Amino acid sequence: MVHHMGTQEIKTKRLLLRRFVPEDLQDFFMWTGSPEASRFIMEKPHKTIEEAKKDLDKRIASYAKPDYYMWGIIFENELVGFCCGNEINEEIRSICIGYGLKKQHWNKGIATEATQALIRYFFEIDFNRVFSYHNPLNPASGKVMTKSGMTFEGRIRGGSLLAGEICDCLQYSILRSDYQL
Ligand SMILES: CC(C)(COP(=O)(O)OP(=O)(O)OC[C@H]1O[C@@H](n2cnc3c(N)ncnc32)[C@H](O)[C@@H]1OP(=O)(O)O)[C@@H](O)C(=O)NCCC(=O)NCCS
Repeated sequence: MVHHMGTQEIKTKRLLLRRFVPEDLQDFFMWTGSPEASRFIMEKPHKTIEEAKKDLDKRIASYAKPDYYMWGIIFENELVGFCCGNEINEEIRSICIGYGLKKQHWNKGIATEATQALIRYFFEIDFNRVFSYHNPLNPASGKVMTKSGMTFEGRIRGGSLLAGEICDCLQYSILRSDYQL
């Protein structure tokens, strides 16, 4: 059984992972409103700050659920992105990790550091399998997965939706038995 803890604060060497708060709106909109930064994570970018606020408010309200895992990533006192766990399967104790960052913070190792912290967090609360997948056009995300210790599992044909289109995805995972806590 998974011992759900919800979204609790996590500290890493350079990052603070914490719950979103309403004051995050401007920073949040910097990636959710950017066609480039949102391309592989959203159906379409937010067009207005009001649209972003609705989404942010929904995420904040969801913290009431014990199995809701959604962190803002703080780097050098700035909200630079998010990381999350969803697609939970309780029977096999499996969870999927996702992430996204403002463009100016790409390629600093931030998503990898956050993903490594989430893997530890999810194994500590007794998940058995942590997986993730990315679009073949987005190899940087696959790099994050391998650098975080995940193993490539294969190409899932027609396995995901991107901007409303069904597409293939490349999937990775790590099992509790692969991991030293
Ligand atoms: C994917 C994303 C989260 C990566 O975050 P990040 O903090 O830049 O990741 P890291 O710095 O930890 O690692 C990125 C790696 O990808 C590599 N990389 C970057 N662009 C690449 C490309 N076009 N092809 C291959 N590798 C690439 C980097 O060199 C780095 O590897 P290295 O450390 O071996 O040099 C970020 O690019 C992003 O927010 N993209 C938009 C949202 C998104 O795609 N989310 C994932 C959806 S599955």
